[in-house]
Amino acid sequence: MSYILLVDDEPDILDMLELITSTTTQSVIFKACCGNEAIEILKKQGVPSLIVSDYKMPNGDGVFLFSEVQKLYPSVPYIICSGNPEAQLKELFPAVSEFIQKPNMMKPLKQYLEKNFVHTPIPQEYVQLPFGYLKRLGVVSFDTFVRLGEGKYIKLHQSGDALDKSDYLKIENKFLNRLYLLKNDAVNVIKEFEDFLEKRISSSSENQFELVESVIPSVALLCKSFGWSHESLQLAQKTVTATVQFVKKNKNLAAVLRLPSEDDTYGAHVSKLCVLTCVVASQLGWHNEATHEKLVMASLMHDHFVDEALYDDTELLKIENASPASNSEYRTHPFRAAELARSLKGIPNHVDSIIMEHHEKPNGEGFPRGLSASRISALGALFIICEAIIAYSFQKKADQLSLEDFITTHPEFTLKDPFKKIILSLKS
Ligand SMILES: [Fe+2]
Ligand SMILES: [Fe+2]
Repeated sequence: MSYILLVDDEPDILDMLELITSTTTQSVIFKACCGNEAIEILKKQGVPSLIVSDYKMPNGDGVFLFSEVQKLYPSVPYIICSGNPEAQLKELFPAVSEFIQKPNMMKPLKQYLEKNFVHTPIPQEYVQLPFGYLKRLGVVSFDTFVRLGEGKYIKLHQSGDALDKSDYLKIENKFLNRLYLLKNDAVNVIKEFEDFLEKRISSSSENQFELVESVIPSVALLCKSFGWSHESLQLAQKTVTATVQFVKKNKNLAAVLRLPSEDDTYGAHVSKLCVLTCVVASQLGWHNEATHEKLVMASLMHDHFVDEALYDDTELLKIENASPASNSEYRTHPFRAAELARSLKGIPNHVDSIIMEHHEKPNGEGFPRGLSASRISALGALFIICEAIIAYSFQKKADQLSLEDFITTHPEFTLKDPFKKIILSLKS
C-alpha cells in the first residue's frame, strides 16, 4: 500500500501537515510523533511514497530517523520540515534534497505534492479533518460535516460551537473520526496556524515578558486552589510570552496597543487575564495554541479605552454600578476596542467578538448589547468567567479560594450554555 508518513513531535504541526496533504492528494496518511514511532510504522507498513519529517524531536530525532530510513528504504523521497535555518539543515542532512522551512509549510508542501502526486488530485470541496486537531481546538472556528455518501455531506457543527469531552466521545463512537471541513476553510485554518507559528518562532529567542512572570505566583496559587494542573500554567506562560513579544516587535501593533507595564493595576489585571484565560482553556481540553493566542490578544486589548486612572477595582466597580446614562462612555469601551481589533493587521479573527462580549452577562443584562446567553460565543463566555474568577480572587482570602465556592457564589454561570457547559466541564 502506498502511503505518506508525517513525523513531528508537535501534535498541531502534525495535524497541519495532514490537512495540507489531504487537501492536495488522496494518499493514505500515517503520522508519528518521533523517530522511533516512525520506524515502527515503516517496518509494519512497508515502503512509503514519501516521508516528511521534523528535525528536533525526542525519542529519535530527524538525523537518526533519516539514517535508519537510508538502511531500510534508501530510495524513498524525504523532506525535512523544520524551523532551523536551511544552511544548518543542509549540513545536517547532506543527502536530503527537499527542505521546508517552518512556519510556511503550506505552499512548498502543496507544490511538492502537486508536482509528484499529480495522479491523485482531489476533486471534492470537502477535506478530512484531523480529529486530534478538533479535539485540541475546543471551539470550532469552521463548520464541520459528516459524509453520508458519494458527494453527500451534512453539517454537524457550526463555526463558534464549543465541544466538551462528551461531544468528542459521541463523535468518536458515531463517526469513527471521519469528519470533514470545506477546502476553503482548511486553507484558512492552515494560514492561521502558520501565522501563529511565525509569531512563536520569531519570539523564542527573546527575553521573557517580565510582567507575566510577576503575576505567575498569584495565578499559580489560584490554579492550585482550584485544582488545576501546573502544565496548563506552563503552556499558558509560553503562549502569552510569544504573543506579547510578537506585539512588541510588530511596529504597527506596538504603536497602538497599550502593553501592560509593571506596578499598575491595569497591567496586573491584563497580565493575569492573559494567563488565566489560557489556563482555563487548557483545563477544558482546548489545548490549541492558536485558540490561546486569541484569548491573549483579547485580554491585551479588551480595556484599551478604559481610562488608566480609573483602573482601580473599586473605581471600576463604582462606574459599572452607576446608571447607564451616567456611564455611557464607559459602556461603549468594548465596542470601540473591538473596532480597533478589526482594524489592525495581525490580530486573529474572533478576537473582536471576544472583546465585544466581555461585559455581557448570562442573564442578558450586560452591555453594550445586552446579549442573551445563547448569543454569546464560547470563547466570550470563557473570558467573562475568567474576569469573574479574578474579581472573586480579590474578595477572598487565599485559603478560602476553591472552584466549588466560586461556582456556588456565581450561580448565574450554571444556568445556560455556553456558560453552563464550561462550568460543568471544569467541575468534571
Ligand atoms: Fe472592560
Ligand atoms: Fe477586564
